[in-house]
Amino acid sequence: MRIAWGITGAGHLLEESVNILVKLSKTHEVTILLSGAGEEVLKMYGLFETVKNLTGGKYRELVLEDDQRSSFPMTGRFSLGTYDLLVVSPTTSNTIGKIVNGIADTLITNAVAQSGKGLVKTYIIPVDMESGDLQTVLPSKLELDKCQNCEVCEAAETCPSNAITPYMEINLLKCEGCGACQDNCPFQAVTGGKIITIHMRDIDIENTTKLGELKGIHVLSHPSDLNII
Ligand SMILES: Cc1cc2nc3c(=O)[nH]c(=O)nc-3n(C[C@H](O)[C@H](O)[C@H](O)COP(=O)(O)O)c2cc1C
Repeated sequence: MRIAWGITGAGHLLEESVNILVKLSKTHEVTILLSGAGEEVLKMYGLFETVKNLTGGKYRELVLEDDQRSSFPMTGRFSLGTYDLLVVSPTTSNTIGKIVNGIADTLITNAVAQSGKGLVKTYIIPVDMESGDLQTVLPSKLELDKCQNCEVCEAAETCPSNAITPYMEINLLKCEGCGACQDNCPFQAVTGGKIITIHMRDIDIENTTKLGELKGIHVLSHPSDLNII
């Protein structure tokens, strides 16, 4: 099968999505589309290179939001029968909100809109599915209560991206998620993969419900529910 897989800027279900993507790429031609935030967040969680390494060759491309300017010409492929399937996983509440309101102003929302027009089967895995609390995972984080304000900050010194302002914070837009800071702080003041609880907003859950009512869109709760491997 020829599949297009969109990744938006969600940390939740990101690693799980990439794991399925890696498996799918072995047996299917997969074009990977990243929203601008999707590209940034993949880097923060140290997963960008894994995704990039899956691409190369015809219809095994990595399509970036910035390369598609404002009209997203590659999404025309969805009206031309190029792809058998579009998967978007993980899908942020932002992208879901746009889709259910018919807005197409990003690479991923355009891909979904054009898939609707081209009758391409679309699977969407939203991060915000049910009301209540959700456990989600953070990228690298400086824990100020553990930081000892060392004269030389080993975490900052060993960061290849120069992303750490000692005793203050990690600039996630510079962070490439390599984890060197976690390994090199002698006081374990940098965490990676910390789990926090967030609370679902009613509007996001309502939007996910509306999404399931749209023609041609199938909503799944987890990337492993995709039955196409
Ligand atoms: C580290 C990090 C993790 C994020 N995780 C989520 C998430 O799990 N769900 C979500 O809806 N937004 C999340 N966001 C916020 C989105 O990236 C942001 O709303 C972005 O504008 C979404 O753009 P997109 O929908 O075009 O990808 C996260 C942001 C950061 C910096």
